[in-house]
Amino acid sequence: MKKNIVAGNWKMNMNLDEGKKLAEEVSGMIRKKPLKAINGSPDVIFFTPFIHLVDVSKIIEGLDGVGVGAQNCYSKPSGAFTGEVSASMIKSTGAGHVLVGHSERRSLFNENNKMLAAKASVAVENGLNVVFCCGETLEERENSRHFDVVRNQLREGLFWMDNKSFSNAVIAYEPVWAIGTGVTASPEQAQEMHAFIRDLVNEKYGNQIAQDTTILYGGSCNPKNANQLFQQEDVDGGLVGGASLKAGDFFKIIQSF
Ligand code: PGA
Repeated sequence: MKKNIVAGNWKMNMNLDEGKKLAEEVSGMIRKKPLKAINGSPDVIFFTPFIHLVDVSKIIEGLDGVGVGAQNCYSKPSGAFTGEVSASMIKSTGAGHVLVGHSERRSLFNENNKMLAAKASVAVENGLNVVFCCGETLEERENSRHFDVVRNQLREGLFWMDNKSFSNAVIAYEPVWAIGTGVTASPEQAQEMHAFIRDLVNEKYGNQIAQDTTILYGGSCNPKNANQLFQQEDVDGGLVGGASLKAGDFFKIIQSF
């Protein structure tokens, strides 16, 4: 069954103590008001920097529906890749998820769809659930190429998966022009693209899997706009950057279904 999810992408923010404090604050709120008692019963995932994974995993232990994930992993299983972190290392921290293909990885670190497919592949082999990000730039949208771009990102980066692996994957649509800009996609723009993505999943994996696939919206999602976005039929939650760094704001978004 399709799950609603609210995920926080901390990016390169928070030292260890700050991150632990943030995770403890949000967890405390969830202990008082369990996710099952919240409209839409969303799952919550913290995408933290690598160094927080072990501690945040411990902080959320025993909390139903709450998970931890990394923001990236390397495309090879192990070896002489100084400075990189493997999917199996991530898994060994207690984390269950990994973001693949965030637009900042694509644009600042030159990650292409082929490399992202390799990353998603080692992630799956090591039992991590992939949250695969896609989305167009402003220029691509202005040139009416947004559907083509997203289709291509998904076909090359994600749709190599077999049905079984794909059923554990989540898609996050994040228009690049909305990330960190304060400009949010309108609910209609989000719905239009999410419905398009669900159609693509249907073509590739069939209707049942398409209906069960969680598709998140990301890009300047905040406590004010989350409700309208989450009300859209094909928007199953959010991947939240800036607003996930304040416990109160993040918890408001969690309650926005
Ligand atoms: P933002 O980031 O909410 O700060 O726009 C979203 C993301 O990049 O995942």
